[in-house]
Amino acid sequence: MATINFDKEKKLIFSAIQPTGTFTLGNYLGAVKNWGPLQEEYNCIYAVADLHSITVRQEPAKLRQNSMQAYALMQACGLDPEKSILFFQSHNHNHAELSWVLSCYTQFGELGRMTQFKDKSQKHADNINAGLFTYPVLMAADILAYNADLVPIGVDQKQHLELARNIAQRFNQVYGDFFTLPEPFIPRMGAKVMSLQDPTKKMSKSDENPNACILILDDKDTIIRKFKRAVTDSEAEVRYAQGKDGINNLMTIYSIVTGKSLEDVEKEFEGKGYGDFKLAVGEAVADHLAPVREKFDRLMADKAYMKKCYTEGAEKAMMITQRTLSKVYRKVGFTDFR
Ligand code: TYM
Repeated sequence: MATINFDKEKKLIFSAIQPTGTFTLGNYLGAVKNWGPLQEEYNCIYAVADLHSITVRQEPAKLRQNSMQAYALMQACGLDPEKSILFFQSHNHNHAELSWVLSCYTQFGELGRMTQFKDKSQKHADNINAGLFTYPVLMAADILAYNADLVPIGVDQKQHLELARNIAQRFNQVYGDFFTLPEPFIPRMGAKVMSLQDPTKKMSKSDENPNACILILDDKDTIIRKFKRAVTDSEAEVRYAQGKDGINNLMTIYSIVTGKSLEDVEKEFEGKGYGDFKLAVGEAVADHLAPVREKFDRLMADKAYMKKCYTEGAEKAMMITQRTLSKVYRKVGFTDFR
């Protein structure tokens, strides 16, 4: 049986990512890259949110493959199964069970106001299913089942996190203080990486134009080619300023992967054209991601190790959430099982 080696003095972090294809540079810079360093200071739990992914129709074999890749990528991006709990959401049935209870404490109107629901139901007008609508309740269950203190996310998930807090507060008002109110943990830079083809929109794996989005497993040539084609402005001056969405986005990306400040980036490219700058961004990103790809390839070749990691991860996750769920069932008035 797996044992949990969390330090009781430390705060708890929970986050998750959907396995709908390889991670984008947005997923990476806005979320996953920041998860690794948090492992030293916090108790961390990270999941592959496969239950969430079926709100959009998935091809089963592809979903299985994407899920395994997402699990390997979490480790390749710096998550350590010895320090953190890493698991597949579908392996822990407590998430779905708690989600049902919480859905009875969530208002229809609240869910209708979720911007992601509005966007996705426009995008998938032929499949506006109930899961797409109740998705934020499952996300609240993911977080509240562990009584997480902090949730590292990109800006696009902030509204869902606020809803999770509201659900927790409502439950606490009825049954007394029980759920911890989770706080969002949004990075200062990279919280919203923009599309390379339309820098007023966030970078997303569902973008129809493959040049809009860098996948973290793209090879060096592809990364450089996509950056070279990035849409910018007609000014030809590498400067961070209002109205220069494309350049601001590229400067932010370059600044994060090189560790240079925006001012230093401006100085570095003073008097140089966008061509040089785009090439430099592409090379810096590709070099930064090269070790991730190498580690990913090694992990994917070791299925037995991966299985051991995700089985133990799910066992630990279940231990924690079973306690929460039993207490919730008791509070709402269900008959004791044993
Ligand atoms: P998902 O899978 O869409 O994205 C995973 C993480 O990546 C961030 N992100 C971005 N950050 C910056 N720029 C971008 N262009 C960009 N695109 C995505 C997201 O904000 C997210 O942090 N519902 C969640 C997964 C989830 C979850 C949870 C997260 C399920 N349960 C509980 C936190 C807590 C989602 O679909 O993320």
